[in-house]
Order: sequence, then C-alpha cells, then structure tokens
Amino acid sequence: MTALDTGPSVFAREAAFNLHVGGRTLACAMSLVDAPLEALDAAVPEKLAPEEAALLTERLAPARRQSLLAGRWAAKNALGRLAPGTAARDIRILPGLLGQPVATLPGRANLQVTLAHAGNAALAVAHPESCPMGVDLERARPEQLGALREQTTPRERERAHAALPSDEAQRLLLLWCLKEALSKALRCGLTVPFRLLEVASLAPLPGCVRARFENFAQYEGTACTAGPFALAVVRPHMAHWEDGNGPAPPVLLQDWLAELASRHEATSP
Ligand SMILES: CC(C)(COP(=O)(O)OP(=O)(O)OC[C@H]1O[C@@H](n2cnc3c(N)ncnc32)[C@H](O)[C@@H]1OP(=O)(O)O)[C@@H](O)C(=O)NCCC(=O)NCCS
Repeated sequence: MTALDTGPSVFAREAAFNLHVGGRTLACAMSLVDAPLEALDAAVPEKLAPEEAALLTERLAPARRQSLLAGRWAAKNALGRLAPGTAARDIRILPGLLGQPVATLPGRANLQVTLAHAGNAALAVAHPESCPMGVDLERARPEQLGALREQTTPRERERAHAALPSDEAQRLLLLWCLKEALSKALRCGLTVPFRLLEVASLAPLPGCVRARFENFAQYEGTACTAGPFALAVVRPHMAHWEDGNGPAPPVLLQDWLAELASRHEATSP
C-alpha cells in the first residue's frame, strides 16, 4: 500500500483468504476500491504496466477510463496480496479474446483475477487458475427495475422472495449480480440466454445469501447488498470458504460494501 492508496478521496480495502478443497488450501485475495478519476489518473505511472497504459486511448470515454483504472487498481491490490513484493507496474492485466481479464505476474504462473466495476467502485478477487471464479458489483438504478425483473424467472422471484427479507429492488439486483458473476466464471459473459444462468436456490447466511444454480451445479454463489449496492462472488461449489479466526470472507465483503454505501450516502447531494 502506498500514499496513493490512502488519500482522503480513496477507499481501498484488501484481504487475503483461503478456500479449502478436501485437504488442499487455495490462496485467494480480494479488494474493493472506490476512487475518483483524478486519484486513479495520478496513480497511472505507479500502477500500470506500459501495455495497460496503452489501453487508455484518447477515444476512451471518461466513464470507461474510470472503470478500467479502478478495476486494475482493485485487481492489482488482490494479486499483490498473493505475490508480496511484486510492484503493481509489474503485474499486467490485459483483455483476453472474450474480454476476460488475463493476469501475468513475474515468476508466478497460474494466478488469475476476476473483476467488476460500478460507478467509481471496483471489486476484484484473485484466485488460482485451477479454481475459476467470477464477481459482480452493481449499483441500483431505479429505472432499471423493470429490466431486472424481466431477466428473472417466476421461480427465481419466488425463491428470492422466500429467502430474502430485503425489498424487491435489492432482491432483483442480487439475482442479477449472481448471474453476471456466474457468467464471468464461465467466461461467456451475458451472451447466453439468461435462463441458462437461473438461480436454483437461495439460503440466507449471516449478512449474505448462498446461491446454487439450476444448470451449473458445480458452482456456488455468495451475494450481499448494502444501500444501493450489491455484489456477488461465484466459486466452485467444492471450494469452501475458510472458517478461520477472523471474519469469514463473505462477512468481510458485506462490511466493505456497507462502508462503501455509507461513503456514498455521505457524499450524495
Ligand atoms: C462480462 C460482462 C457480463 C461484464 O459486464 P459489464 O457490464 O462490462 O460489467 P462489469 O463491470 O461487471 O465487468 C467488467 C469486467 O468483466 C470482465 N470480463 C469481460 N468479459 C468477460 C468474460 N467473457 N469473462 C469473464 N470476465 C469478463 C472484464 O475484466 C471487465 O472489466 P475490464 O474490461 O475493465 O477488464 C459483459 O461485458 C459481457 O457480457 N461480455 C461478453 C459479451 C461481449 O463479448 N461483449 C463485447 C465485449 S467487447
């Protein structure tokens, strides 16, 4: 972490965590960043590799510049946790053929990252390549409610209603996040019919929900909401969150999201 990460306008959280599969431990890390474009631009020389900086063309709209930079910042925070001592500039995250982020780190093979942005904020999870994961982060927009509803099945809406005490807008956003995160783990993105990504079950856990998928039983999702924000992390079902001393990763994510929401509440007009 540098002075750039701790300026007053920058919110940056990061943590390492483990997933467990049988007797094996998979080291992962996550980061949530919320920073204005000026702070992200100021960090470019320190954080971006030349090949990444080349993505910042003149034609890029400010919103896309913002999301690209915030996403790289969060992704490098998370990857850096798994490769201590590696400078952010030496980590390259370039788009693959399907738009997916492809990470390259000196001396470290088989580490990948999944990321999402919403406004000024970005969420990333770094994970071993052997353990495909996907994340999503969304900020609710009231005008999207109808479209979000259209992308759910009646069964999903019933399941969500039974499992979640939150309001309909939060339920729909959470379902969307889970499906988009699954689509990233699968690398197909939202190019497939939404029905294929259908949520089969939702179970409330402290601060979040656990989801399984109708057509992808090998994956499990964890999702939470706070204020206008929702996030989801999808991982292989067989890889269990660590149950160690500190707060479990989903609880930490929920705490971070709540911080993000209150930060936005404080700055909203
Ligand atoms: C993946 C997808 C659902 C992401 O949606 P989005 O509205 O851009 O929103 P998010 O902020 O949640 O996620 C963006 C990140 O998803 C990641 N991503 C993009 N495509 C991906 C894919 N196929 N698989 C996994 N991750 C992907 C990228 O890291 C991207 O951020 P970056 O471009 O800054 O690196 C959407 O882009 C999609 O459906 N892509 C496939 C369709 C396609 O090919 N579109 C043309 C792209 S040029």
